[in-house]
Amino acid sequence: MFANLTAQPADKILALAKACREDERPTKIDLGVGVYKNAEGVTPVMRAVKKAEQQLWGLETTKSYVGLAGDPAFADVMFDLILSDAVDRGNVAVAATPGGTGAVRQAFELVKMANPDARVFVSNPTWPNHTSILNYLGMEHVPYRYFDSDTRGVDFDGLMADLKTVKAGDIVLLHGCCHNPTGANLNLTQWQIVVDILNEVGAIPMIDIAYQGFGDGLEEDALATRLVASSVPECLIAASCSKNFGIYRERTGLLMAVSADASQQGLNQDTLAFLNRQNFSFPPDHGARLVTMVLSDAELRMDWKAELEEVRLGMLGLREQLASELQRLSGSDRFGFLAQHRGMFSRLGTTPDMVEKLRADHGIYMVGDSRMNIAGLNAQSVPILAKAIVDIGV
Ligand code: LMR
Repeated sequence: MFANLTAQPADKILALAKACREDERPTKIDLGVGVYKNAEGVTPVMRAVKKAEQQLWGLETTKSYVGLAGDPAFADVMFDLILSDAVDRGNVAVAATPGGTGAVRQAFELVKMANPDARVFVSNPTWPNHTSILNYLGMEHVPYRYFDSDTRGVDFDGLMADLKTVKAGDIVLLHGCCHNPTGANLNLTQWQIVVDILNEVGAIPMIDIAYQGFGDGLEEDALATRLVASSVPECLIAASCSKNFGIYRERTGLLMAVSADASQQGLNQDTLAFLNRQNFSFPPDHGARLVTMVLSDAELRMDWKAELEEVRLGMLGLREQLASELQRLSGSDRFGFLAQHRGMFSRLGTTPDMVEKLRADHGIYMVGDSRMNIAGLNAQSVPILAKAIVDIGV
């Protein structure tokens, strides 16, 4: 049997992380996988998360199963964090999932179950795992224009033109904030226009929100998702706690199915629980419990928000430093987009050859499409990166 297996394509982001780990050059700069790192190159356990863990050790009396959809208290705090008062809680089915990827996978499974003919429109480019999972599930996906390679901003005209080809029942996958891999985001006026088009044709938005708090702020980063949820009859929201709580390995995420009224909610909730049961049974609980504790305790919540804000401002500072260093070295403003982009990533917009040259000659690791993880930088490595970028003639 095993002899029938064929090699699967390596995940580009994870393969890059491995290659970087194996590079022995002390001067290497890792701008690959989307994991936050502080100036010392460490991915810290956030203070409030650590405190919650200490409390939990004393409080937890059992490791028995929770529910198939996870702990309802987790669902409630995350609903509040992401959707606030945008929609009625009674209209929303929520299930905990193994990370944001688990939520994406369950969302696609739900779409396939509800409408096997649905096509999933994805931004070009999008997080590669979106299309990889869709391929694995045998679901049709269609790219829509998103990134303008000249301005390194959003190609809004292209996006609009491509959304006009969407049909009723199709799914349009949008990144709630901090677009991965480009860092280029729609403004709220543009979100409203997108929502109007989707409503006109009867397409269903699916939001992937994995970086809330990394862009313009915790509330600001949720505004687009709230706008969508409050303006359409139905939508799906896949959310991750990996980044904003720094609990990557705990696999903490959730899927929300927002319906027009409460009468659909029960069936949606049962379906999410069913899908969890088929794929992995109970979702992981430890990370979800920590998130619930942090968000429910005024002091822990305040400390978490403060640390998240430090992280966000740190990344913004690095963006500004890089843009101004590049401006100084190149004598042009053409890198100004780096300070405009938001979130962990920016797409530099270079060729794969140049990305390879940066790796081979300078030990600088970025994803082949020239996505850089800004959090992989620090004040000392920014000038090194800027010089390398200018030297190779970007
Ligand atoms: C990324 O895009 O680098 C992160 O979301 C990590 C991953 O799983 O790919």
